[in-house]
Amino acid sequence: MEVVITDHPEQVLADIITEVVREGATTLGLATGSSPVPTYTELIRRHREEGLSFRGMQAVLLDEYVGLPPNHPEAYARFIRDNFTDHVDFDAVHSPDGMAADAKGAAAEYDELIARLGPVDVQLLGIGSNGHIGFNEPSSSLTSRTRIKTLTEKTRRDNARFFGGDLEQVPLHVVTQGLGTICEATHLALVATGETKAEAIAAAVEGPLSASCPASILQWHPRATVVLDPAAASRL
Ligand code: GLP
Repeated sequence: MEVVITDHPEQVLADIITEVVREGATTLGLATGSSPVPTYTELIRRHREEGLSFRGMQAVLLDEYVGLPPNHPEAYARFIRDNFTDHVDFDAVHSPDGMAADAKGAAAEYDELIARLGPVDVQLLGIGSNGHIGFNEPSSSLTSRTRIKTLTEKTRRDNARFFGGDLEQVPLHVVTQGLGTICEATHLALVATGETKAEAIAAAVEGPLSASCPASILQWHPRATVVLDPAAASRL
């Protein structure tokens, strides 16, 4: 695992992505949450000003809330369009279906789609304050596949800020790529910023490889880069 501590995580991540895109990458794994947004902003700038093109490429999203239609302001499908993909030129953007009548079947189909499109060349990741990646909460199987999960109260409280601060509005269930699915990507690139992530980062980077900190799975992956600002790295 490579750990990069920098005042400009978005430049490091945008460089990683720019390099693989220019080398002919076909599939990029995208993450939601606020942490990757500066990276998306920088990639949009490079697209507009430096001719960085995602033509011929597929984007696959990590996770989605169950029960939110794709156009709901807090649906991750909508978030990624608004913050990134509508502003660049991917051939297609795929996200898990949070509205499927057969939620289990749709999750399995999404897993198969990723296997068909993959391997994902670079999978961007954020981290939850409890160490989750995607929506793989603590105790998720380290070999899990895309499936429905129940959010912990902690994660729902963390994410309530996106729902007007109202915990009741935060869905209880989500569909997320599993840790096994995520680890099939060729390169995992995790970004964390701010003091609130410092404890989770210390557990992920220096703690034991354990389901109690799902992000610690990066220790096991052959190619993982963790990009931190000094605050997120403060407990290393
Ligand atoms: C959500 C997402 C994760 C993300 C996490 C942290 O729970 N499912 O993919 O990493 O939030 O979000 P933020 O970057 O806003 O702190």
